Amino acid sequence: MSLQIIVGAQWGDEGKGRIVDWFASQAQIVARYNGGDNAGHTVTVGEKVFKLHLIPSGIIHPHTVAVMGNGMVINPRSLLDEMQALESAGVEISPRRLRISYCAHLITPAHCALDAALEAARGKDNIGTTGRGIGPAYTDKAARTNLRVADLLAPDLPERVRQNIETANRSLLSLGAPALDVVQIAAAFTDYARQLAPFIADTALELHTALQSGQHLLAEGAQGSLLDIDHGTYPFVTSSSTLAPGTLVGLGLGLTAAHGAVITGVCKAFQTRVGSGPFPTEVFEQTAERLRGTGENPWDEFGTTTGRPRRVGWLDGVLLRYAVRLNGITELVLTKLDVLSGLKTVSICEAYRREDKTLTELVFGPSHLDAYQPVFTSLPGWNADLGAIRRWRDLPEAACAYIRAVERVAGAPVSMVSVGPEREQMIVVEA
Ligand code: IMP
Repeated sequence: MSLQIIVGAQWGDEGKGRIVDWFASQAQIVARYNGGDNAGHTVTVGEKVFKLHLIPSGIIHPHTVAVMGNGMVINPRSLLDEMQALESAGVEISPRRLRISYCAHLITPAHCALDAALEAARGKDNIGTTGRGIGPAYTDKAARTNLRVADLLAPDLPERVRQNIETANRSLLSLGAPALDVVQIAAAFTDYARQLAPFIADTALELHTALQSGQHLLAEGAQGSLLDIDHGTYPFVTSSSTLAPGTLVGLGLGLTAAHGAVITGVCKAFQTRVGSGPFPTEVFEQTAERLRGTGENPWDEFGTTTGRPRRVGWLDGVLLRYAVRLNGITELVLTKLDVLSGLKTVSICEAYRREDKTLTELVFGPSHLDAYQPVFTSLPGWNADLGAIRRWRDLPEAACAYIRAVERVAGAPVSMVSVGPEREQMIVVEA
């Protein structure tokens, strides 16, 4: 049995897509276990830049089967658009290659409208959601009123959609938002059902059987550890379990499937966040512009899903250690090390100060981060352009020292670093 889980160790956007792409070459199955099209995974292969939101990024490797697990919330319109875009880019999309859990939940236009209306109602205290209807869809799931993928196979689907949207319309009207056209949405869902039916499966059973027969499963986490609904910076979080243990419930696997699993935490060499919420190591002005990039390149720090400029800061070691603990991370992959080249000094937050106390471990989680002052360690920077380097021994000494400092503060080994967006721009870290 073999399972590898790739999780974001920060607030998402760590570069998981390209790391999944790297490991997917050795996997037979790639699976998503949480979230929906709020995610944005970018994979660069030669001239082609793939932006995926729903379908596991590992599908780009032609030998893989991609699974969309029961823990996901799926907007069928976005899914069909993404299937179409991938097919146009030469990726085979067929029921042999793409399997959708019958008990994943659906996102309707009403969820997107509610997301917008709820954010507007929150005013200046808004969460800064991606507007993709994620929170309202998971709310409906927990309330046991939502439509599931299996409903797409039901003969009375139009009636089920009608009832669901009529209920949502009452909520929309109470928030001062216009009601949606029930008939038009029911017709659209009938069409989605026709197109998606061949892809719907009991993916939990299929995954169980595949693991039993010795296949290698790569589970792709979406968002990041600090956006986890339980352990993140609540309420500034997403609405799903983003952490590695969420893989089991989100794919329908038993605990024994996790025995001996490799848990790969993907961590940017600095820190970014989109949306509202605490960010102790955030930087502004020139340093921020330097870390963020101008937006000219697809890998600059602007949201893949929303295009928003990301907030940026120095690597937060206290939060990283927290993520290592909650995920059970066995190895870290450090991305975008090349972005730090040319800085005179590079900082890492090793602890927090609160009144006269120094804390190296979060107590009561990360929701009250605003009360903490980061304690930074400054390390010497390096000038070399790292983009062309492929071997550990060719990295500047100061860059190696930075990686060792990350390992020390995180309490986990760094196995690889990325030094550019291309597939081969990876360096294996030596002991
Ligand atoms: P939601 O998931 O759209 O409800 O957004 C909740 C919070 O999570 C907001 O701060 C979003 O910016 C953030 N978020 C959601 N998905 C991602 C992601 O894939 N990367 C980074 N941040 C995300």
